[in-house]
Amino acid sequence: MFNLGIITISDKAWQGKRPDKSGPLVRDSFASVDCKVVKYEVIPDEKDTIAQKLSQWADEGSLDIIITTGGTGLAPRDVTPEATLSVVDKEVPGLAEMMRAKSFAITPNAMLSRAVAGMRKECLIVNLPGSPKAVAECLEVILPVLSHAVDVIKGRVGEHTIPDGGKD
Ligand code: MTE
Repeated sequence: MFNLGIITISDKAWQGKRPDKSGPLVRDSFASVDCKVVKYEVIPDEKDTIAQKLSQWADEGSLDIIITTGGTGLAPRDVTPEATLSVVDKEVPGLAEMMRAKSFAITPNAMLSRAVAGMRKECLIVNLPGSPKAVAECLEVILPVLSHAVDVIKGRVGEHTIPDGGKD
């Protein structure tokens, strides 16, 4: 069981010029997982705003995972990875690496996401690209390992315990 926060990072959604479909899709995708969505917000593509929100939510201590969606690409206003890297204590590169690798089999455009993942204190922060299609494809890759990641971060399991109860 873990607590989840969702942040949609999009100037257009924040301005009300476009409905946020990706944030609700993240929420729905986690319905099959033993977790509770406790926070959800839409914010603009501003590095300081994103960094502040991530650090505030992580430092409050009630969230185990924060999923962001949007702002990971190459457009001038895309700054989600920079904001995320400015607040994490440790990177968790494998999550973003595998999302890109698996997504590349679906679309070469996967290479254009600069998404990162990392930990701030005991909170895991993961960037996803912005489109609902990309959200669905990327979550399929990382969902199976997130509960175990939280357990390890919280010290609930030994480092080398694998989710099925065995040892690797
Ligand atoms: N990843 C997956 N799985 N599926 C996709 O359709 N779209 C790509 C990429 N990653 C895509 C994807 C595209 S077109 C872009 S521009 C980048 O994510 C960055 O998206 P963002 O700027 O909305 O974060």
